[in-house]
This record gives sequence, C-alpha cells and structure tokens, in this order.
Amino acid sequence: MKGRDLLDLADLGADELETVLEAAASMEDVLARRIKKVPTLRGRSLVTLFFEPSTRTRISFELAGKYLSADVVGVNAAAASVQKGESLEDTARTLEAMGVDAVVLRHRAAGAAELLARCLEVPVINAGDGMHAHPTQGLLDLYTVRRRKGELRGLKVAIIGDLEHSRVARSDLIGLTRLGAQVWVAGPATLLPPGLEGLGARVAATVEEALREADVVMALRLQRERQQQGLIPGGEEYARCFGLNRQRLALAKPDALFLHPMPLNRGVEVTSEVADGAQAVLFDQVRAGVAVRMAVLYLLLGGGN
Ligand code: CP
Repeated sequence: MKGRDLLDLADLGADELETVLEAAASMEDVLARRIKKVPTLRGRSLVTLFFEPSTRTRISFELAGKYLSADVVGVNAAAASVQKGESLEDTARTLEAMGVDAVVLRHRAAGAAELLARCLEVPVINAGDGMHAHPTQGLLDLYTVRRRKGELRGLKVAIIGDLEHSRVARSDLIGLTRLGAQVWVAGPATLLPPGLEGLGARVAATVEEALREADVVMALRLQRERQQQGLIPGGEEYARCFGLNRQRLALAKPDALFLHPMPLNRGVEVTSEVADGAQAVLFDQVRAGVAVRMAVLYLLLGGGN
C-alpha cells in the first residue's frame, strides 16, 4: 500500500483490509506502552487539512502521526488562504512544494479527496468527503467489532438511521460486507438512498426486522446540517419511530454491541441509556481510531518492515 491514496474502502480488497486491521493491532500494542512513541516515521511530514468540523478524526490523525514521530501540521481551513479565495488545488500544491509527505483532507464536497489526489504525488487520505466516504471511520468500526467478536464473517450488523447523508454508513457497508458480515439497514424512507442493495445491504421493511437477532447495532447521527427541509417531521417523531432505546436494542442478541460514529444527538437517534449502557462500545471506537490511523499512516508512508 506504500505511496497509495486512501480515498474509499471500495479501493481496498479483503486482504488489504485485513492488512490494515493487523497493523492496527500492532499499533495498539504501541499505545499500551508507557511511552507511546516509535521512530517509524521520523523525518516524514503530515498535514491535516480540515474544511469541516471534527474532533475525533482530526485529533486522532494528529496523535497517530506524532506517536509515529512524523512532523504533523494541522491547518485550520477557517484561518487559511482558502478564505481569500485560494482553490483546493493551489492549497494542495503549496503544501507539496513545502515538501509534505502526506495530506489528510476533510471536505464538505464529495470527491474533494480524489480531486486532491489527482493533483498530488504524495498520498492523500480522505478524512470524510461530503456524503461519500469516511474510510478510516469504516476501518476503525471493523477493527472495534472484530476485536470484540473475533471475526466479522457471518455477523448480522444492523445500521439504523440517516443513511442518505452518511459517509460512515457507506464506508462501513463496503468494509463489513467485504469481510463477510451481513448488513441490514433501516430508516425513514426519505433517508434511505437508492443503491444500498448494490453495496451489499439488505433493506429491512421495519427497524425491528433489521434489529432482530443482530450481533452488532449501529445508529447513525441524524445529519441535520446536510438535510433539505422536510425529510423528517422532527427529532421527537424520529426518536419515537427509529431511535435506539432499551426496548429496541433488546431485539438484538443479548451480547450485541452498540456502535455510533459520534457526535451523538442524545434523545434523537439514541437514548442516553443505550449510549452509556453496557453494550455500547463508543469509546472503544474512538480508541481504535488512533491505532487504525497509525496503521494507515505506517502503510501508506512506507515506514519499513
Ligand atoms: N466520527 C467522526 O468522524 O467524528 P468527527 O467528526 O469528530 O471527526
């Protein structure tokens, strides 16, 4: 994978997904040490370029780079020259001229990371592009489930909610099905895009059908910032019909895991009782994010054997 971009999980075969997950397990060993630092990427530089808000993805990429000894520069797009009208391509070429070895990009437009990758020789890592893809979130979700359940093959995974606007759902769906899980989806008809079956999902007629006997349940954030008006009546109505509460989670297997990519709309797509409950692994997901992003940087920047 050395020198490649990471734009979409659709670009990785099952063996490459496994390679990343195995590398992430080794990185988790590094993270368990008292001094969480290895010299693997010493002398390499990484720029994180975020045009949309982020807490988890940005911080974990920056920590991942630092734990691998790369020089990491975080660019706040709100304070960069893009505000003076500079194009994404010119911004990227400027970074390349400065000798950066990789760029992590989050952007509101689907395809922005691919556009950047076409302009740059160095690896571009997609940290979320519009409603299209969020590959490292997909990888950390695969890692979290595999670590708890042993393997993904044969698991029933229910993804509930706003699939229309969710780049996480699309990346999860691709990664999970590629590694043998059976993915069921459910949500309001207005928030279920066409083409889900083409990605390997089974579209349930009801949320209860998707949840029944599931091994893993994932609720998606209701992305009000990307929605047109009128796709759902309102948060209360959504919570009543599709929100993950204790009664709904009880339809899944007793040892089912509950995942959410965060940030949460508590009381809308999930109750606090479920989000903070014994089945929730939300902070395992966050922890896995650092290990997975270390693995991605290591593999793409070719840190050695
Ligand atoms: N899950 C996720 O992408 O979180 P952030 O928006 O905080 O990065």
